[in-house]
Amino acid sequence: MSSNDSDTRVVSGMRPTGRLHLGQYHGVLKNWVQLQHEYECYFFVADWHALTTGYEDTSQIEQHTFDMVVDWLAAGLNPGSATLFQQSRVPEHAELHLLLSMITPLPWLERMPTYKDQLQKLNDRDLSTYGFLGYPLLQAADILIYRAGHVPVGADQVVHVELTRDVARRFNHVFGREPDFEQQAEAALQKMGKKAARLYSECRRAYVEQGDAQALERARALLASQQNLSIGDSERLYGYLEGGGRIILPEPQSIINAAAKVPGLDGEKMSKSYGNTISLREAPEVVEEKVRTMKTDPARVRRNDPGEPENCPVFALHELYASDDLRTWVTEGCRSASIGCIDCKKPLIDAINAEQAQMRARAEPFENDPDLVHAVLQEGSERARDEARETLEDVRAAVGLAGR
Ligand code: TRP
Ligand code: SF4
Repeated sequence: MSSNDSDTRVVSGMRPTGRLHLGQYHGVLKNWVQLQHEYECYFFVADWHALTTGYEDTSQIEQHTFDMVVDWLAAGLNPGSATLFQQSRVPEHAELHLLLSMITPLPWLERMPTYKDQLQKLNDRDLSTYGFLGYPLLQAADILIYRAGHVPVGADQVVHVELTRDVARRFNHVFGREPDFEQQAEAALQKMGKKAARLYSECRRAYVEQGDAQALERARALLASQQNLSIGDSERLYGYLEGGGRIILPEPQSIINAAAKVPGLDGEKMSKSYGNTISLREAPEVVEEKVRTMKTDPARVRRNDPGEPENCPVFALHELYASDDLRTWVTEGCRSASIGCIDCKKPLIDAINAEQAQMRARAEPFENDPDLVHAVLQEGSERARDEARETLEDVRAAVGLAGR
């Protein structure tokens, strides 16, 4: 692939945490499901990442991987559209991580805000390992091995995508510079035809000398439309545009997951550690029971007390499901006390259960035959590996380890 194709590629990972809840569904998974129709997506179970903060007890990783992937499938991720796989089945991530570790300055890792944060928060764990310090670099390898252009992540992970960009830039700078780079780029240029070559040179000059970003875009578009260039020449010319060497590892952008505010049953943020979750594929009675006893606006002590939906976690859930009409009905009914909380919760329970019925139906074949899940991961991991190997071949050659 050329660095241009990376625009159409998305990669993201999730640690194997077992069954997912509605907070994770609305915050992350729904985005993934959407992205799989628009991009070439690689979604993986970040099982090595689970070891970086918890190597002492690995007994749950397999079960958690299975449960989480069933939820992915239940939510509508389709192995025909997206490549779903397991990180540890694609050892190329590890080789790239190793090679990147050679050029990554220690302070880049030590100053990661996530590093300092977690050192403080997870003080019951042994975090004095290289694995923990180096985990953002492993994440960089996860991304760069697919030359992905876009990485959906939570806001807290944006710094890791930035590190990925820094590391890619450094790698390209150190290893992308062939000794006769300029001559090679000029030779590649001649293969484009006179008119295109002249336009490219003009745009390149405008960008390099005056920082004209539009000229850069024009030159890139011109390259993208060239049919006769080999991948190597094309990469060279992309790199030459920005004055540097060949771009072996393109820099990705983050797509920040819209922080859907999903409250838990107690009104706090929905989170497994608070024990306030509604899982995907919950039994209908359980959904009903959980919502029925869910916290509401504390101002509504009695049925006749008016309430304010903005102060009510139930309403926050309604906002994820309700039609405009239903929302108006809730708002007006709550403020005028013409409906009670039980009335209000009823259509929410129905909406969640309708969504979950579909998820349960999608999950059923996989629950009945776990081998189907293993097959999805097996196939996905092979597909991912093919791509990862291609990148790694270029990387090895650039580093000087091509083996021939
Ligand atoms: N570090 C991410 C998390 O804890 C998971 C992850 C690992 C990831 N590798 C990735 C996300 C690559 C995006 C891209 O949530
Ligand atoms: Fe909340 Fe609905 Fe009760 Fe109003 S009526 S407090 S929105 S549950």
